[in-house]
Amino acid sequence: TSTFPLYSKKDVSKHASMESRVWVTYEGEVFDITEFIELHPGGSRIMLAAGGALEPFWALYGVHKNEHVLEILKEYKVGELNSAEKDEPVDESDPYSQEPSRHPVLKVNSMKPFNAEPPPYMLTENFITPTDLFFKRNHLPVPRINPNDYKLEIERPNGKTQDKPLNLTLSDLKTKFPKHEITVTLQCAGNRRSEMSAVKPVKGLDWNSGAISTAHWAGARLRDVLLEAGYTEDCSQAQHVHFEGLDRDMTGTNYGASISFQQAMARENEVILAYEMNGQELPQDHGFPLRVIVPGVVGARNVKCLGKIIVSKEESGSHWQQNDYKGFNPCVDWDNVDFASSPSIQDLPVQSAITEPHPGQKVTPNFEGELTVKGYAWSGGGREIVRVDVSVDGGKTWKVAELTGEKQKTGQAWAWKLWQLNVPFPSNISDFTIICKAVDSSYNVQPDTVAPIWNLRGVLNNAWHRVHVTVDT
Ligand code: HEM
Ligand code: MTE
Repeated sequence: TSTFPLYSKKDVSKHASMESRVWVTYEGEVFDITEFIELHPGGSRIMLAAGGALEPFWALYGVHKNEHVLEILKEYKVGELNSAEKDEPVDESDPYSQEPSRHPVLKVNSMKPFNAEPPPYMLTENFITPTDLFFKRNHLPVPRINPNDYKLEIERPNGKTQDKPLNLTLSDLKTKFPKHEITVTLQCAGNRRSEMSAVKPVKGLDWNSGAISTAHWAGARLRDVLLEAGYTEDCSQAQHVHFEGLDRDMTGTNYGASISFQQAMARENEVILAYEMNGQELPQDHGFPLRVIVPGVVGARNVKCLGKIIVSKEESGSHWQQNDYKGFNPCVDWDNVDFASSPSIQDLPVQSAITEPHPGQKVTPNFEGELTVKGYAWSGGGREIVRVDVSVDGGKTWKVAELTGEKQKTGQAWAWKLWQLNVPFPSNISDFTIICKAVDSSYNVQPDTVAPIWNLRGVLNNAWHRVHVTVDT
């Protein structure tokens, strides 16, 4: 039997800083790694695990799957986890009690419903965002769906087949239609909202620059499914395609949104009903078992947990189509806003952000006397990023960053570009501001400040991204 003392997870969580000493857990054992922090070859990010489990972080950084690492860890053992510690009892009356578990590194903007983003610097560590880190944006409790009972319902064109809807099981979707695979970046309209609230408060979750992520998606083409249901390109009644989610609120209202029928049918738009994300079935948070992926279009139209598709002359009447996700003049406030006066957001504008260094960071020059700046850039509507400009003197002088990313077809650049630049370290100053701005293939550029694009809901912030840093002397 073990001679080590027993601790609860709560005990461990109290040791999350150098002052209170740094404890972590691994496979039921407790370690005090305070003395190792300085020695860690992976740097200060080891602190992300302070007070909690190592497993989710080591799942991200494969270098740790190594005997040598476990040998190091063993030296720091101070106890064991109390195995009698039961998980929290499930409260059946709470609509959020059955939600999936999430990665601890995510910055949670709201717990119920669950909304969270990864630290920006982690976004640019991989072209394809690891699924656990992919930002999560839910308006409602995440539904639990039994894949064996699941059916997607598609309304028929008027008058066809006695209006009996087309019902497709998951297996129908996987076997009756060709599988189409695409790499697509999703961005929430509220990405970078916190910079907009800094100008003047807005209503909405406080997203930093992490409400954007990239995945490889696979599924059936929406076009093929609509053709199967009896629609043709020239259906005069067909103007909009509505997507209804299976997530609902207490009143039975479900999440919903729509895109134009033309957007849905045009082969080159590559709209798919996705059942796979990064080679695996969709996770609950990202729309299990089926979601629509509308490349180049705002996240809100990429409806998750898809239950029903309706083709109509009208746009979706959903709250999120009609009374949210729209842009306005900065003069519009909650007393005079007329949501009917603005079109729903579809394609998003050109965007870029700096992911490294982070705001307020103390920076030092590298061996070459340079500073490495990293970020992402993306534009909606399949427009490719053709250039990212970076300044480290607040915009007086500029340099062009180096872009990396998958090769994409003209007009179908659905995925972001990551970028990087080593700039000479500014001399003789104690602090400075880094700026980035991107240019897309239509030569669209980003506005230089937030104030002129401010809107009451805090959407569509694509102003030049500014990061103020101080020099570590
Ligand atoms: C690298 C140990 C926790 C992130 C390494 C390496 C060791 C190590 C030995 C070098 C591996 C090699 O190159 O063969 C440990 C131990 C930990 C710990 C003993 C816990 C007590 C963490 C955590 C994170 C992390 C929590 C992230 C949140 C990294 C990264 C590298 C690394 C990114 C790669 C650095 C590079 O390639 O330059 N770690 N690590 N480590 N570690 Fe950890
Ligand atoms: N679909 C359903 N069913 N319910 C939702 O709340 N949120 C939308 C969209 N689809 C939502 C949804 C919004 S606003 C965004 S930005 C994206 O999903 C986020 O997708 P993700 O959580 O996979 O990142």
